[in-house]
Amino acid sequence: MSEAPSAACPDRPGLRGLLRRLMTEQLEPGRAAAAVALGITLGIVPIYGLQSVVALALATLFRLNRPLTLAGTFINIPPIQPLLVIGSLQLGHLAMGGTLVSLSPRELLATGVGLHVVALFIGSVILSAAVGGSAGLATYVVLRRRAARADLSRNEARRWRRHVNRIFATAPIWDRGFVRWKTRLDRLFDLLLAEELGTGPVVDLGCGHGAGLALVAFRDPHRVLYGCDLSERRIQAARRALSGYDARISVADVRTFEIPEAGLILVLDVLQYIGDAEQAALLARCAAALSPGGLLILRAPDTDGGLLAKTTAWLDRLALGLGAAGTAPAGQPARVYQRLLAEAGLSVTAQRYPNKLPLAHVVLRARKPDVAA
Ligand SMILES: C[S@@+](CC[C@H](N)C(=O)[O-])C[C@H]1O[C@@H](n2cnc3c(N)ncnc32)[C@H](O)[C@@H]1O
Repeated sequence: MSEAPSAACPDRPGLRGLLRRLMTEQLEPGRAAAAVALGITLGIVPIYGLQSVVALALATLFRLNRPLTLAGTFINIPPIQPLLVIGSLQLGHLAMGGTLVSLSPRELLATGVGLHVVALFIGSVILSAAVGGSAGLATYVVLRRRAARADLSRNEARRWRRHVNRIFATAPIWDRGFVRWKTRLDRLFDLLLAEELGTGPVVDLGCGHGAGLALVAFRDPHRVLYGCDLSERRIQAARRALSGYDARISVADVRTFEIPEAGLILVLDVLQYIGDAEQAALLARCAAALSPGGLLILRAPDTDGGLLAKTTAWLDRLALGLGAAGTAPAGQPARVYQRLLAEAGLSVTAQRYPNKLPLAHVVLRARKPDVAA
């Protein structure tokens, strides 16, 4: 279920801390829905000038989220207020006498102001119950769904971390530690956990320790896994970790590796180790190897990412140095890869995202059209 607000929002001193606490207080679906319903109700009933004060007082009394309750009263903003007044008045008259009334000021005055005030009040109660109730219900449904999804993905992430620990438990200590920390700190894995990864064989080009393949196998243990990397050491660790699956992993160069037909191809942080023309040729071969409807996920350093791009390039050099490929890492801007993949007939989307580490990457998702579908 949703976290207690105090756990989600550790105490911080000062004004910012106070604002943060106020914004995140009592945000469980039921209470947030009650706050919205109360705010809107008070925004509609004709207690003009007092709506905000009463909203804050009642929210405090019933321990509801105060900013949300206050926001609900803003339903009463000038463009909407005339509609609320007219709606309430007519609803009130319908409830009292079964007929609508003329809105001409002369006729309203002639038929007695007192009657219309009562009608306005009764109508506003009906209208506020309907609008406030519906908005509260909608808030509840949306927040419940979000909480359920968050729970699910938290559990999934926890299960994935345990899975990584287990399958890499017998790897040499350095490799074990590397994979453990990489899968915790690199948001790529959160992204892959949430991704629709399709079906059919999976190919991971420059698979390193095989963490990407491990994630796909964690999601669907029946897929055939292909991987290649120049590093014998990493391939050994990957083979051992993935020995429980149908994994066909070899020491090979992505430039010459024969890519089998696949439903999913991963090209994660490897393109920068080969030349520009070789990158283009590899992407064209990937596009050709994808089955109809298949997905290619490509991650590359974000060369337009400012200071973070420099950190990423620097870390790349530090971690792999002149690397197994024998060249200093040199990626091209993501838009170049995007163009190459589009030219190969794939439909491509790009996503830039901040990492937990000070790194800047772009993820491209390129899908092969499924002509039959
Ligand atoms: C930054 S690591 C990424 C590993 C893995 N894709 C991941 O995301 O965990 C880059 C990997 O590419 C491998 N590599 C570099 N050039 C290669 C090449 N020409 N053929 C195959 N692997 C290569 C390196 O050995 C290294 O394992």
